[in-house]
Amino acid sequence: MEKHSQKLIQLNNLLEGNLNIEKDSKTFEKLMFIYSVAIKELVTKVEIIKEEFKVFYNYDIIDHINTRIKKPESIIKKMQNKNCELTYSQMINSIQDIAGVRVICPLKKDIFTIKNLIVNLPGINIVKEKDYVTKPKKSGYSSYHLILDVPITLSQKVMYIRVEVQIRTMAMDFWASIEHKAKYKSNGAISKSASKELVKYAKIINKIDDGFIKINT
Ligand code: GTP
Ligand code: MG
Repeated sequence: MEKHSQKLIQLNNLLEGNLNIEKDSKTFEKLMFIYSVAIKELVTKVEIIKEEFKVFYNYDIIDHINTRIKKPESIIKKMQNKNCELTYSQMINSIQDIAGVRVICPLKKDIFTIKNLIVNLPGINIVKEKDYVTKPKKSGYSSYHLILDVPITLSQKVMYIRVEVQIRTMAMDFWASIEHKAKYKSNGAISKSASKELVKYAKIINKIDDGFIKINT
């Protein structure tokens, strides 16, 4: 059988011109499929890291992995907030978190081990790195964020697709999900006193995370 010649192509080149998101849902479907492939490729690699640590070191470095693809209405809303033109090329270039992978680990030190293993995976390019573990956000939010370009192989083409990875401890994840719900319920604006409480709890959680490392090592 003839060997497929693998061409490296840009996702942008798949789109003819500046297609309008609202007028062309078929292209949306194809793009979302491509983002889902990128998630699969990355998750497979992260799952292998999880299993390798278990088999070789009898160590549970990852508790679980969550994934999600941003809903079309959320993509459009985010683009409107950023004053982007509603075209597919704008969408690909300006929205970094269409494909999302969240890695939840038991201990704070695991975050940095996982981060180093992910950024050193062959073929993966780092676009952006944000360390909200060493320096939490004003809200109290803590996690390690990576924006990556992940290579995917489709028939006869290799493409780099953008994926956002958030790495956090189980305790950080607990805080973030409660805080997210609280914000969501009040349409993004929680009271000053509630914000203060949340920052206080984030600090307590940080102490717990640091304490767990001492117990474990
Ligand atoms: P967007 O918030 O996605 O527009 O990106 P950004 O450029 O502000 O990046 P950042 O890395 O700060 O945040 C990306 C993602 O991290 C968000 O979409 C959330 O999932 C998560 N995140 C950031 N800040 C908070 C926070 O204060 N609370 C919670 N619960 N999640 C947060
Ligand atoms: Mg986001």
